[in-house]
Amino acid sequence: MPALVLVGAQWGDEGKGKATDLLGGSVDYVVRYQGGNNAGHTVVIGDQKYALHLLPSGILSPNVTPVIGNGVVIDPAVLLSELAGLNDRGIDTSKLLISGNAHLITPYHRTLDKVTERFLGKRRIGTTGRGIGPTYADKINRVGIRVQDLFDESILRQKIEAALHDKNQILVKLYNRRTIPADLVVEEYLGYAEKIKPFLADTTLVLDEALKANKVVLLEGGQGTLLDVDHGTYPFVTSSNPTAGGACTGAGIGPTKIDRVIGILKAYTTRVGSGPFPTELLDEDGEALRRIGGERGVTTGRDRRCGWFDAVIARYATRVNGLTDFFLTKLDVLTGWEQIPVCVAYEIDGKRVEELPYNQSDFHHAKPIYETLPGWTEDISKAKSFAELPKNAQAYVKALEEMSGAPISAIGVGPGRDETIQINSFI
Ligand code: GDP
Ligand code: IMO
Ligand code: MG
Repeated sequence: MPALVLVGAQWGDEGKGKATDLLGGSVDYVVRYQGGNNAGHTVVIGDQKYALHLLPSGILSPNVTPVIGNGVVIDPAVLLSELAGLNDRGIDTSKLLISGNAHLITPYHRTLDKVTERFLGKRRIGTTGRGIGPTYADKINRVGIRVQDLFDESILRQKIEAALHDKNQILVKLYNRRTIPADLVVEEYLGYAEKIKPFLADTTLVLDEALKANKVVLLEGGQGTLLDVDHGTYPFVTSSNPTAGGACTGAGIGPTKIDRVIGILKAYTTRVGSGPFPTELLDEDGEALRRIGGERGVTTGRDRRCGWFDAVIARYATRVNGLTDFFLTKLDVLTGWEQIPVCVAYEIDGKRVEELPYNQSDFHHAKPIYETLPGWTEDISKAKSFAELPKNAQAYVKALEEMSGAPISAIGVGPGRDETIQINSFI
C-alpha cells in the first residue's frame, strides 16, 4: 500500500490536524516530515480538545505509530512536555519513533530568532519565535546538532562549543545580548538523552519495511504551500518545505511510493505573521470570519489575518504539490453570508493574471478580481452527505473545485471528527 501526503494548501492552519486525526483510524503510520513546534494543530474528539505542536496528529489514534522524521526540527523540552501532557490525559505515546537525523533546536536558536526579528523591525517576518529559522540555517550550514548527537557527550560538546563560538560573538557584538555558556547547553541537552532514547529509530528503514508490508503511511505536513521556503511568498515563509516534495526528503521515502497528495484547503483564507495576502479583509467581514472561525493562532495566540477564498492560490497549490484531492475545511464558517466573494484572478498593473505571479513584487501589487457566489443560511454542521447541503453551499463547493484544479473529496462542516462529509474515500 503506498503512502499519502497531507499538505496545507494555503498559509497554514487549514485544518491539517483534524484531517490527519480523521484518517487515523485507517492508517498505520503518521509521519511529521518538516517544521517543528511552530505548528499548532488542533484536534477535537468528542468534548476533548488537543493542541499538538511537534507530535504527529496521528498520536491520538491508538493503532497508529507516530513518527517524527529527519526533516523535523525538535525542541526537546517542548517534545517532552507535549508527551507528558498527553500522558496525563491518558494517551499512550510509547509507540512514538524519532529519527536520529532530526535536528535539535537549542536556546541559542530561539534567542537568535527573536533578536533578528527585533532587528528587522517593520520588515520582520512575524515568526513564531521558536528558533525554527536559525535551526534550519545551521542544518544547511552543516553546523547543526542532531538527535543522535545527544548520545555521545564529547561530540555534543564539540558541536555546541563550535556553534557558540560564532553565535556568542554575534549575540554580544551585534545584538548587545549576553553570551550563552556552552556548558549550560551541553548539560541541559545531555539531560534529555535518556528520555528521548526509547523513541530513537532508523525511521526511513522502519517506513520502508512498513510500505513493503502493505501498511498505510500518512505523511503530515506542518505549515502550508505558501509558507514553503522555495514555493511560498519568500521571504515571508517558514524555513522548510511543507510542499509534497518535502515529504520525500523529510521522511526518507522515494516519490514513487506516494500515490495520493491531499491538499487541505480552507473555504476562505487566513494567514499569521507578515507578508502579502491579496484577499485580506480589513473590514467587518474579516472580523466576522475571525470571530466565527475562531481564527486565533494555536501556537502564539496571535489573531489570524482573514480574507475570502483565493482560487489562484488553490490552483498554485495543485500545481506545486501535484494534488490529487482537496479536503475543504470550515465550510460551516461561511453560513449566513448573503453573498460570498471568491477571488478568481488578480489584477496586476492593469492586467488580468490567472496564475500566481512568480515575481514577488508583482504579488505584492496583486489586487483580487472577485466573482460573487450566493450564500446560504441553513445550519450545515449536521450534514453527512453532499446532497444534504443547501443548494447554494453545493454550488460554492463545485465552483471552488472547478477553479482549484483537483476534486474536493471531503468537506469539513465543524471541528469535530464526525463533522465531515466524505465524498471520495482517501484510502
Ligand atoms: P492546522 O494547523 O492546519 O492543523 O489547523 P489549526 O488547528 O491551526 O486551525 C484549524 C482550526 O479550525 C482548529 O481550531 C480546528 O479545530 C478547526 N477546524 C478544522 N476543521 C474545521 C471545520 O470544518 N469547521 C470548523 N468550524 N472548524 C474546523
Ligand atoms: P501550522 O502547522 C500558520 C508562519 C509564522 C511566520 C512564518 C515564519 O499550524 O499550519 P517560523 O516560526 O516558522 O519561522 O515563522 O510562518 N507560520 C505559521 N503560520 N500556521 C503554522 O503552522 C505556521 N508555522 C509558521 O507566523 O509568518
Ligand atoms: Mg495551525
